[in-house]
Amino acid sequence: MKRDFLAVTDFNESEVRETIRLAVDLKKKKGQVLDVLKGKTVACIFHKPSLRTRISFEVGIHELGGHSLYITDQEIQLGVRESIHDVAKVFSRLVGMIEIRTFSHDNVVQLAKHADVPVINGLTDLSHPCQIMGDMQTIIEHKGKIDHMKIAYLGDGNNVANSWLEAATVLPFDLRIGTRNETMPDSAITERAKKAGKSKITITEDPHEAVRNADVIYTDVWASMGQKDQFQSKADLLMDFQVNTHLLAGANQACIVMHCLPAERGREITDDVIDGPHSVVFDQAENRLHAQKAIMVKLAQWMH
Ligand code: CP
Ligand code: NVA
Repeated sequence: MKRDFLAVTDFNESEVRETIRLAVDLKKKKGQVLDVLKGKTVACIFHKPSLRTRISFEVGIHELGGHSLYITDQEIQLGVRESIHDVAKVFSRLVGMIEIRTFSHDNVVQLAKHADVPVINGLTDLSHPCQIMGDMQTIIEHKGKIDHMKIAYLGDGNNVANSWLEAATVLPFDLRIGTRNETMPDSAITERAKKAGKSKITITEDPHEAVRNADVIYTDVWASMGQKDQFQSKADLLMDFQVNTHLLAGANQACIVMHCLPAERGREITDDVIDGPHSVVFDQAENRLHAQKAIMVKLAQWMH
């Protein structure tokens, strides 16, 4: 049956665990070309810039034996030149899988609804699930487990924060989000995460409360792609949530520091912290490759 990966919650707990285990296994086979996607083309649609997502998908598709096709909005103009329904049906006749990075999450839901091939969310304004799958792999590699870890996300309540909340409905951990009332994560996603009762969820305006004894300190840019007009206003709001040595002092001494990148050094995180001994940001960047390969393997298996 065709399945999609638009949110971490599209996979159940055992599927998420299996996918992360598979990613760890695929990492050991880095550089080998497998035949999971042999003879298949994966369309990679990008309406926003990307380094990690684009390169890791293209390399991952190659390493799974498939062919990737990079498509910008100049070509298809999703929902403008023709309907999302028609775009989905045409893609389904020509490619085996679709990865898409765009603004509107709803457009991705519509694309997946009408497509007969799996659709993967490569980031929308609402969420960034591939990032969090790779990040959970990174946490397991560094801390030995993800279950019951104290994970502090500091800064803007954006797509990455929303995906952390979705992950917290699937796996059990202690998620603290330190942000302002003006920059809260999506309220419906927050409600669902709290209601799920899987993880402990704390949302606080106190950055020190968020990081207390934390095993993982996580941050992201304050103004996401498409919001750069809010660059200064978000910085004014979020300065107290900067990840710096002073804030780190309240965390577990063996904590790891994470950032999905790209970083705005000197704003949400200082140079000494992102380049310091706690930082695992480049492991995170590499694990995008392995996690996404694992996601594509699962989606390809379920098609049969
Ligand atoms: N973290 C991440 O998704 O990076 P890119 O925007 O470069 O793809
Ligand atoms: N929140 C960031 C993540 C970039 C990978 C953005 O959407 O721009």
